[in-house]
Amino acid sequence: MYGLTPIARQRPLQRIAVLTSGGDAPGMNAAIRAVVRTGCAEGVEVLGIRRGYSGLLAADMTPLDSAAVANILQRGGTVLKSDRCEAFHDPANRRKAADELRQQGVEALVVIGGEGSLTGALHLEQETGFPVLGLPGTIDNDIYGSDDSIGFDSAVNTALSAIDRIRDTASSHDRLFLVEVMGRNTGFIAAYAGIAGGAELILAPQREPDPEALYRQLLKSQQAGKTSSLVLVAEGSKPGRTQWLAQELEQKGLEPRVCILGHTQRGGAPTGHDRMLASYLGSMAVRHLLAGDSQVMLGVRNNTRVAVPLTRVVNRRKHLDPGVLELAAILHE
Ligand code: F6P
Repeated sequence: MYGLTPIARQRPLQRIAVLTSGGDAPGMNAAIRAVVRTGCAEGVEVLGIRRGYSGLLAADMTPLDSAAVANILQRGGTVLKSDRCEAFHDPANRRKAADELRQQGVEALVVIGGEGSLTGALHLEQETGFPVLGLPGTIDNDIYGSDDSIGFDSAVNTALSAIDRIRDTASSHDRLFLVEVMGRNTGFIAAYAGIAGGAELILAPQREPDPEALYRQLLKSQQAGKTSSLVLVAEGSKPGRTQWLAQELEQKGLEPRVCILGHTQRGGAPTGHDRMLASYLGSMAVRHLLAGDSQVMLGVRNNTRVAVPLTRVVNRRKHLDPGVLELAAILHE
């Protein structure tokens, strides 16, 4: 999948810009580097915009050459910094942003981020005609239209290494652990890290956990000879659900320990998979812009690159395949 494909140049570009927005995700740097280096190869100058849309509104941008992106491939976070920018919800600010880009001679913008960031990109092009192209960059993997997102694989692996360690302690002390992972409302990290980490149970974010049912299940597995258990809880949209669940279980006589992995899942070096995905999508982003595409997000479906119209990406929910949770249910028995 990762081989570059030829493009017919339709749009003569001299200068584009790139920004990262929303929660940082491992692999964003690899994507920035690929945009810049492909720009260099194609004779297109690339400006880096700092702090996402906030930096765009403040005209905080700088030219990036090949040397400027050396040695960032393996680093977590984003060298361009990121932000969640409330001001960009205002159409007047989006007009200001487009004016600023045009004033700087920028002809197209690459946005690397999650659903909120891609929504901002869509509105920018719809309202001002300024060409944008999005790349899915989020640990949550919740972006409609792409099977994968930059940062997801790294976050799963970070969660896994924590789970493996917690498992050692859980089995040494015959304990029950509730481990909470990020992922907003979709539960991709919980499902993948739960299956790969052999969790006894995975609590998906869509449903309120049922302490009584969980208690009965844990007792059943104790009776079947299990001395320790690890329950993976997806964070969901209600903060504090894991602590609440722990209190409920305590009232029933259990002694769960809670471990919230939180932002540890966002940082750290990207996995090889994320570096590859980000390098490929970042490079293809420039080529798609040169081919005249815009208002699309590049992603992958069934191991093939897709350019999905941003109008189809935003405001849609990506759901975890129920078969994945079924797999988990069979394997934890
Ligand atoms: O979208 C990435 C993510 O890490 C989610 O998993 C999490 O719910 C959220 O961002 C946390 O956001 P913040 O870092 O702004 O608290």
